[in-house]
Amino acid sequence: MPTVAVLGAGTMGSGIAQVAALSGWEAVIYDLRPEFARSQIDRIHAALDKLVERGKLPVDQRNAAAARIRAGGQSADAAGADLLIEAVIEDMSAKVAAITPFVGVLAPTAPIASNTSSLSIGRLAGELRCESRVVGMHFFNPVPLMPLVEVISAPHSDAAMIERTVQAARGWGKTVVRAKDTPGFIVNRVARGYYLESLRLLDEGVAGVDEIDRALRRMGGFRMGPFELMDLIGIDVNYGVSCSVWEQMERPSRLAPHRIQQELAAAGRLGRKSGRGFYLYDAEPPVPAVAVQRRSFDYPPELREAVRRVASAGAAHGAEGSATEEYVFARVLATIINEAALALDSGVAAQGDIDVAMRLGTNYPHGPLEWAERIGRRTCAALLRVMDRMSADGRFAPAAWLTA
Ligand SMILES: NC(=O)c1ccc[n+]([C@@H]2O[C@H](COP(=O)([O-])OP(=O)(O)OC[C@H]3O[C@@H](n4cnc5c(N)ncnc54)[C@H](O)[C@@H]3O)[C@@H](O)[C@H]2O)c1
Repeated sequence: MPTVAVLGAGTMGSGIAQVAALSGWEAVIYDLRPEFARSQIDRIHAALDKLVERGKLPVDQRNAAAARIRAGGQSADAAGADLLIEAVIEDMSAKVAAITPFVGVLAPTAPIASNTSSLSIGRLAGELRCESRVVGMHFFNPVPLMPLVEVISAPHSDAAMIERTVQAARGWGKTVVRAKDTPGFIVNRVARGYYLESLRLLDEGVAGVDEIDRALRRMGGFRMGPFELMDLIGIDVNYGVSCSVWEQMERPSRLAPHRIQQELAAAGRLGRKSGRGFYLYDAEPPVPAVAVQRRSFDYPPELREAVRRVASAGAAHGAEGSATEEYVFARVLATIINEAALALDSGVAAQGDIDVAMRLGTNYPHGPLEWAERIGRRTCAALLRVMDRMSADGRFAPAAWLTA
């Protein structure tokens, strides 16, 4: 039976162990606090029980999966393991400290995979001094429900290590996309515009949080609006990812984190988990908790026309909106499409993988590049050019893929 060593028994590590065990792997799970690893195994057992209750898992399979998960004490408990997945806190030195004792005890063919969201796989590989074995294996939360895994290759990652990682993820029922070791990989980079451009629209007084959320849900077919989603993810977490991607990309204006995120995070207004973020959660339905300084905005005719073209070709089936809703939708969508196209231009991943990643990793109704093809790449580029002329920071400059 293949064995995976999972380092870190938190949200991600426990989900990964559950998924592996359900697919016939033995999972040895480690945490700095061994008693926490044991309590997380109890929680996995309870999650398996729920699947049985709902008729989704036969009881004998539940028992077999439960028996395949154990808490590890020493690294030697994972001797000969076929794969290591690190899911400890997002800190390079913690990751290096966690992995180091295992390097010599795993099977020599075992990939050393990191679930990091934002750290460089190449740097981790360098610090561990085993360049060829280290790969990225980026799962999404909650792991048992989210079908996507981004498999990340660093410059020196061995092709066989990558293939074994891909096969393991597929064997666990996941859809794999491949990406290069670049800030935010695919999903955490391309998704930034959904939040950041919506924050800029709010800050400019174009519309309120609930109006922007509604416009993107209704016109775009997004399951959640950007502000509801930031409140769910945690404004501090989302802000942290924004800062990390922006810094690592050398601070391009289009990815600059927004002052409003920073202020809410600093004030402890973190979203649902603190009861207050962009919305206030002691009422049902939640009410907007960030005021908008509404400004009247005169759409120049060329902007209006470019927005209308993108909005009418890109909107969800039958959706129509006010001029403001169309503007919100078209501007945010064009921003996401442009980031996806820039990632494609710079070889982060293949076109199909970028689309699959955004559909499965963020539940977008369409991949951004297929969305662009549907609207027309030139139509998207035309809107970006008009917005580029109107803005001072160059953030809408269209990607080569859109203008070719
Ligand atoms: N939570 C998410 O939505 C999400 C999504 C994708 C990727 N990630 C990444 O996955 C990783 C884990 O995130 P999480 O949300 O599960 O964190 P978490 O805080 O829930 O769990 C981290 C666990 O690691 C343990 N730990 C710390 N140092 C350790 C060590 N040296 N050895 C063993 N265990 C150690 C901690 O005790 C803790 O239980 C991070 O790199 C994060 O960026 C998180």
